[in-house]
Amino acid sequence: MADSELRQRKAKGDDGQTKQSTKRRTTDEEDYDSSSLRLDILRVLTFLFVASCGLSYVISSGESFFWGMQNKPNYLKPEWWKAKFAGPIYLTPDELSQYNGYEKGKPLYLAVNGTIFDVSSGLHMYGIGGSYHFFVGRDASRAYVSGCFEEDLTPDMRGLEEMYLPIDDPEIDSKWTTAEMKQLKEQELAEAKERVHSGLKHWVDFFTNSPKYQKVGYVKREEGWLEKLTVPPLCKSAQEKRKKRVPRDQQ
Ligand code: HEM
Repeated sequence: MADSELRQRKAKGDDGQTKQSTKRRTTDEEDYDSSSLRLDILRVLTFLFVASCGLSYVISSGESFFWGMQNKPNYLKPEWWKAKFAGPIYLTPDELSQYNGYEKGKPLYLAVNGTIFDVSSGLHMYGIGGSYHFFVGRDASRAYVSGCFEEDLTPDMRGLEEMYLPIDDPEIDSKWTTAEMKQLKEQELAEAKERVHSGLKHWVDFFTNSPKYQKVGYVKREEGWLEKLTVPPLCKSAQEKRKKRVPRDQQ
């Protein structure tokens, strides 16, 4: 056999082998590609799972790894976003009274200084039989400051500053001249009004900033509603807590 023929045959044989091994390599690469793709997907899913657990743990302050916290922050509640986009609701006092827990399917609403909050997530306090059930379905602003939960369930704040005014006592008060006493009383009145204002603001801020509750709207009242009511007297326990003026020589 001629040398050239032998080389040609060998070349032919080599070519077949090369094709086969290339085919095998391509199949191997495909296998490798699909298994590495599966591995990549698994890695991403594992990362997302671990990240989700970590985020849930941080947001819930260590309460849950799986978003199962009792009091989710507002931004995790669909109803919070719904209320945000729907805009505020306006309810008359009569309409507001339907949100006191007795009407099935309705949330629990309370109002402070005319602003309505959804306090449904405080069911054990505001639901029927709860220790603060009397606050729902109404604006009881006066009671938040006076602490008189029976007499003061009204939005009428008129005259409440009296709870912070000292009781007049002729003997103690005789140490001031008439003009001085007038000025002192004006100052006491301004301070008392400020205390009532900040007492009410405390609760408005409490409900506004609480992660459990959400602001939903405002109480709609007819014009001149306040003038139609009789000014409430200072409730008994607030009256009893009032003290005499601090004597001049002890101030
Ligand atoms: C002006 C007086 C007071 C007002 C306006 C008031 C109001 C409130 C309100 C609105 C809540 C619910 C807070 C929430 O939604 O998370 C609450 C809770 C609570 N208050 Fe008062 N409070 C007053 C005085 C008191 C006093 C004197 C005590 C103690 C003797 C007290 C004990 C409690 C307790 C224990 C809770 C938690 C209730 C629970 O988790 O079930 N409060 N208070």
